[in-house]
Formats: sequence, structure tokens, C-alpha cells
Amino acid sequence: MDSFAYRDGELYCEELPVRRIAETVGTPTYVYSTETFRNHYKAITKSFAELNPTVCYSIKSCQNLHILRLLVGLGAGMDVVSGGELFRALKAGADPATISYAGVGKTDPEIRQALAAGIGLFNIESEAELANLIELARQTGRNTRAALRVNPDVDPKTHRHTATGKRESKFGVDLERARRVFEQYGRNSTVRLCGIHLHIGSPVNTVEPYVQAVTKAVQLIEDLRSARFEVDTLDLGGGFGANYTEGQSAELAHYAEKLVPLIRGRGLKTVIEPGRSISANAGILLVRTTFVKPGPDKQFVIVDGSMTELIRPALYDAFHFAWPVQPGAAFVPLVRQADLNLPGSVEVDIVGPVCESADFLAKGRYLPPINRGDLIAVFTAGAYGFVMASHYNSRPNAAEVLVDRDSFRTIRRRETYDDLIAAEQNA
Ligand code: LLP
Repeated sequence: MDSFAYRDGELYCEELPVRRIAETVGTPTYVYSTETFRNHYKAITKSFAELNPTVCYSIKSCQNLHILRLLVGLGAGMDVVSGGELFRALKAGADPATISYAGVGKTDPEIRQALAAGIGLFNIESEAELANLIELARQTGRNTRAALRVNPDVDPKTHRHTATGKRESKFGVDLERARRVFEQYGRNSTVRLCGIHLHIGSPVNTVEPYVQAVTKAVQLIEDLRSARFEVDTLDLGGGFGANYTEGQSAELAHYAEKLVPLIRGRGLKTVIEPGRSISANAGILLVRTTFVKPGPDKQFVIVDGSMTELIRPALYDAFHFAWPVQPGAAFVPLVRQADLNLPGSVEVDIVGPVCESADFLAKGRYLPPINRGDLIAVFTAGAYGFVMASHYNSRPNAAEVLVDRDSFRTIRRRETYDDLIAAEQNA
């Protein structure tokens, strides 16, 4: 599943003992594996090979330029949702023709920036946005292609904050409206409305919601074609799951096995926008124990990482497996499992130093006895970790390092106090 494993009683990333990174770079630090990024990317292209899709890696999941360059080198396109992400995609050397741009609130400067870059696909979320894109494309004399994001009203069975394919969500337009949007704009030559875009939620750990959504999208495409609209692109979006615990998500090959038969033979160019399924298990957050504090019911393990490095537990009650980096032979975890409780374990909450009760990384876990100074790895932190970091409590952003076999390099230095105030001019 990834390249983080215990060997001789301690955690390795690829061929490198993770402890060495903490000794050199300090903590908290995000540690990424080159090999895992590569393997996950290849697993996606292999699984969907029959459709020869454009794989637009979702920058929002893990955005470091070094990682984007690694993926571009493997042939990835990019899914962007802001001018800042487009800037990163171009800096990373992505072919503009393989960049898709989604989001309900693209501003005029952002649209102009994307038109000037010559991106491959605008994913349109409303009539107002499409009308505006047509106007700006006309003004700048740049024709472009667009797909209409439809909201297929399926339940992706994920957290309410990350479900996007249900009727009540702000994303996309419903199927009936989609037909009307094509009637109104589907023959425009400045912005060629040539595709349907889906993104039903994230993570979607089962295949069934995709099957329902793609079935509806394909039917819509056939109806539109009958009405003589030229629809040649289907963008499936992202949202494929990752294993936060062993076996939690369907395998990529399984998604493909069910979806490819619905799409093949229809003359459709396919786009997919995976983020988490590539990046989540390619990274851990490495933290160090500052204090161990007995509480009335359980122990608090207070570490130097917090909700400012990984907000997912606070925001979504998300589970991240957390375990000491050097647990010793008796406590090597054979699987990442939510209720792991090895003999001799102690019940703990792993919390950060931030002044919020929501500041926790793990709650009610059974861990080997932890001492001040012990390193702890918070797993599956490659996706939506650093990208959602904040400076709350004036905490400088943590460092990011990328491991390649038995060595590593810092791909983002730890911020300094001066970085914190750098934009506060003339203070
Ligand atoms: N395409 C679109 C249009 C999206 O909105 C997203 C994610 C993706 C692709 C990539 O989804 P992925 O393959 O990474 O699941 N912060 C939340 C996740 C929010 C996802 C937003 N959109 C979390 O930490 O779980």
C-alpha cells in the first residue's frame, strides 16, 4: 500500500529510518515517499489504461512544487481550483493542454490567467460562470473548451463536509438544468461546451456511487448527442478512497473494473482527477512528544504537531493511525487498525499545543507507553495535511521532506518567525 513500514522495531520510509529525518530537520515535519507517489500514480494509469485517460492530479491534496514536478515527469496533468494552483501547475512544467480548472467562484483575473495559459478544460459550475467565460474569451480573443459539471444527486457516503454530488450541494447543476445549459450555450464557438464533469465527493470508499453517477452522466451525454450537441469528454473527477486503516477503501483496480465498461466504446475522452488516492499514503506527519500528562480518565500525549499541521481530525473527526516511530519489537503494529490494542498499551489522546479543545490528532487510542521526547508518526497525512495548514497561534509552517530510497531532501524549509510577519509591511 505504501513505503512506510516497521523494520527492526523502528519506522522506515523506503530505505531510510524516519528517526534520522527528525534528528536533522526537527519536528513537526511532513515526510513523503517518492516511491509511493510513483507507485500510486502508476496504479491509476494502469487501472484505467483501457480508456487512456488524462490523469489530472488534484493539486489541492498535496501541492509542493517538487512533488508536482515528480508527477509531471510521470506524465500527469493537473486539476486546479484557483489562480494559485494554476501558477503552481505551470511552474511545475505541466502541459497546459492537460490542465483542468474547476470551482464555483472563478474570478475574472483567474479566468483571464487560465485563458492566457491555454488550459485544456474549464469545468463550469453555473450559467453565470459560463456566460462570463464566453465574454472574457471573446474579449481576449482566445477560444477554449469547457465541460459542464453536473450534480447527479447521488449519495457518496462520505462526511457531510466533503460530499459534493448531492442535490443540496453548491457544486454543479442538476441534470435537467444541464440540458437547458446546452440548449442555451452548447453551440457557442468561442467556448466549446464539449464535456460533462462529475466530482461526487471525497473520499468515496465504495464504487457504487460512481456507478450511479457515471450511468446518469452517460445517459445525459447520449441524450445531448441525440440533440446534435458534440459531447466528446467525460471528466470523472476524483474522490477515490485511500486506506486510513487497512482495507478501508476499494482498490483502484476495482473502481476501474466497474467504471470502464460504462464508458468504453462511446468515443469519449476520459479525464480523472485523483488527489488523495495518490498522495494520502505517500506522506506521514512526524511529531515529537513534548510532555506526557496524566488525566482523570486517560493520558494526554502532548506533541509538537497540532491542528495547524493536520486539521482533518478537528474538522471531519477523521481517523489517522498514529504510532511511535521506535516502539520496540513488542509493539510493532502489523496492521494500521483503528482499535489496535496490544498487551501493555495505555489509553491516550494525542494532542497539540494549540489553544483549542479541537486540537487533537488522535483520541482514545491504545499506544505503547510513551515518554517525553518520543517520536510519533501520524500516518496517511500526505493528502490534505500541509495544504490545509494554518499559522494559528503564530505557528510557523512545518518543513516538508521527500525521501528517495535511503536519502532525503528538504522540499520546503521550516518557516521562521520572520516568515510569519514578512507580509505585514511597515510594521
Ligand atoms: N476534483 C475536484 C473537482 C475536487 O473538488 C476534488 C477534491 C478532487 C478532484 C480530488 O479529490 P480526491 O481525489 O483528493 O479525493 N479536505 C478534505 C477533502 C476535500 C476534497 C475537495 N475536493 C479532506 O481532508 O478529506
